[in-house]
Amino acid sequence: MPNFRHIVLTQDFPLEWLDRLYIESAEAESAVKKKIARTLYKLDEYLMIELFYQPSTRTRTSFGAAMTRMGGQVLWTENAREFSSAAKGETPEDTIRVLDYADLVVVRHPEEGVVGRMAAMDVVPVINAGDGPGQHPSQAFLDAWTIKKELGRLDGLRVALMGDLKYGRTIHSLIYLLAKYEPRIINLVSPPELSLPEELIAYLDRHHIPYRQCGDIKQIAADLDVLYQTRVQKEYFENEADYLRVARRQIVDGEVMRLLPSLAIVMHPLPRVGEIDPAIDSDPRAAYFRQARNGLYLRMALINWIIGRW
Ligand code: NCD
Repeated sequence: MPNFRHIVLTQDFPLEWLDRLYIESAEAESAVKKKIARTLYKLDEYLMIELFYQPSTRTRTSFGAAMTRMGGQVLWTENAREFSSAAKGETPEDTIRVLDYADLVVVRHPEEGVVGRMAAMDVVPVINAGDGPGQHPSQAFLDAWTIKKELGRLDGLRVALMGDLKYGRTIHSLIYLLAKYEPRIINLVSPPELSLPEELIAYLDRHHIPYRQCGDIKQIAADLDVLYQTRVQKEYFENEADYLRVARRQIVDGEVMRLLPSLAIVMHPLPRVGEIDPAIDSDPRAAYFRQARNGLYLRMALINWIIGRW
């Protein structure tokens, strides 16, 4: 048993825990809206450190806002790759050891597995805020909660995961959660160069999750509850030409929206770089900005779990 609570991989968390997480997130939302979060959670003696070795806007600020909304304190090193001791050659293991005075550390790193190694040191609670093409669990938790809020359920859904299924860590984390809710079908919509890694396909097979690979969103858009679009992860491509060959192959636009059922939703972890036409933003089914907003409340609930409040 580890000494601390860590969040590294979504498959580690059972359904009962997820149910509680959604309840805690809804309570956090209501506390923020009533302007009583600081008084209610009283985290003024708690310190969170954010260590980001890769760019971020939403994740870093929403973890920071989550902590400060509850009265806690936040330190961060922006661009840790250049400005922290990593630039001098310090190992991630040593870095985490010296941060053990914090109450929790949120880490984003370009290399898969590194955040897990830091958590395995077990000197301070660690949240994985993205480890290269590995996972991004807090995003997947907020995605699942968003689906529950928007559609009223998570079971038996018809989902399309679209875009960069190869490098997209939000996809890699969400798929484990979706699998827990016995989806009716998971459509994997990507060019062959960006298809889902073998180990995840094997996971779906092993758990008898119905899925199909599909090249064209228009063929299946009429039979969906959730369309989850993603950005092609340019940072993992060797050169620009390879990226341009696959970028923006399929866009969610007015034509796709005409096919999509009236009660379906469109999601995206953001940032988008052309794969969703902004002209559809005003469509009530476009849920991505509501999804991003849910991140604040859900991260408040995660912080509270990490420090043992529930
Ligand atoms: C995602 C990420 O960093 O993986 N962004 C985010 O945290 N919302 C998605 C992306 O960068 O494409």
